[in-house]
Amino acid sequence: MIDHIEQVLLDADAIRRRTEELAAEIRADYAHDDLMLVGVLKGALMFLVDLARALALPLEMDFMATTSYGPGAESSGVVRILKDLDTNIEGRHVLVVEDIVDTGLTLRYLLENLWSRGPADLRVCVLLNKRKARKASVQMDYVGFEIPDEFVVGYGLDFGENYRNLPFVGVLKEAIYHRVRPAQPLD
Ligand code: PRP
Repeated sequence: MIDHIEQVLLDADAIRRRTEELAAEIRADYAHDDLMLVGVLKGALMFLVDLARALALPLEMDFMATTSYGPGAESSGVVRILKDLDTNIEGRHVLVVEDIVDTGLTLRYLLENLWSRGPADLRVCVLLNKRKARKASVQMDYVGFEIPDEFVVGYGLDFGENYRNLPFVGVLKEAIYHRVRPAQPLD
């Protein structure tokens, strides 16, 4: 799996340090509110868990699952909700936790959808911002890292459902994502 990686962009230590910085900011901003974290599965799983632990605040967690990508490397632009929240967020202070904003289409769709449910407040924390790929402008209140327009995997991010468990964020080798069938057996 490691030899499918062209370059490590963010190692585990850098991610941990930045997550702690973001947690400190969020903790200060939400000191007097009941915080509800909404993790966007599956990509945000690792970040959500590490952020929640670093926050050390009373909070609730709920999850949505969306998909905007087909089996390949390009965003399809069509967002589907695969799993909705279990909780009614009306009147709640909601912080959406995302792994990456790429075209912005997923987040734009999600925010429109969540605002329509009447939360008291709705903010966004995103680990990776790939500004160059943007097609829709979106609200982002806390951003971990600005990254280049490369195909990145690891720390929750996948290609063909693989690589999510890598402890770092790395650039996938072009030869891998240009294969006709993306989910080849891993070496
Ligand atoms: C990824 C990622 C974001 C979205 C960002 O999810 O987790 O939700 O794409 O892309 P966008 O800004 O171009 O819309 P994906 O649809 O791949 O599902 P996953 O989280 O299950 O991997």
